[in-house]
Amino acid sequence: MVESKNIVVFASGTGSNFKSIYKDIRNGKINGEILLLISNNSNCKAIDFARENGIEVSVINNEIINNSDKYESFLIQILGSVKTDLIVLAGYLKIIPSKIISKYRNKILNIHPSLLPKFGGKGFYGMNVHKSVIEEKEKFTGATVHFVDEVYDNGPIILQRKIEVLKNDSPESIASKVLSVEHALFPYVVRKFCSEDIIFKGNKPIITGDKE
Ligand code: GRF
Repeated sequence: MVESKNIVVFASGTGSNFKSIYKDIRNGKINGEILLLISNNSNCKAIDFARENGIEVSVINNEIINNSDKYESFLIQILGSVKTDLIVLAGYLKIIPSKIISKYRNKILNIHPSLLPKFGGKGFYGMNVHKSVIEEKEKFTGATVHFVDEVYDNGPIILQRKIEVLKNDSPESIASKVLSVEHALFPYVVRKFCSEDIIFKGNKPIITGDKE
């Protein structure tokens, strides 16, 4: 049996992905525990959910975020204090400092609401992604879970789920369909990470063991 993983979640908004991962921890599917939620937004729903469920919360204010030395040392200290095995970015809208990325190389997961590398990178967040999918007349879109590296939305892709873009789809209808795909995809990848079922072949992460 592999050791249970200490998970730290970063979120800035609704936190629906955070909730879906938490749910799979509670029902025993994920071999880990969320020890901390870090947020830059003191009014977000992700924080309400964490507090309702007894998860410790740490809010980082702009004074810290805007000072790269302070931001880095704050994160190094707090992530070290809970012996973090896995960092989950669940709609975190601030940048992660490169020192953290290299310290936690291949231990930081992000979910993105498109089929990366399409519609990723600067400016591609929230509804901008889905509007562009419609404008470009894409036949498919979906969600991607990847490890985070120093370049935005660029790290090694672990798994993607595709949905078809239908004739009468709007950015809003795609957003809602992609989000429900995310709620199955992200907990699954977290589960596989926590049971040490993600291995590397060269630069490419491969999922091993039982399927969804
Ligand atoms: C999701 O669409 C995710 O792909 C992106 O941020 C959004 C977060 O949504 N990275 P929620 O806060 O988990 O509801």
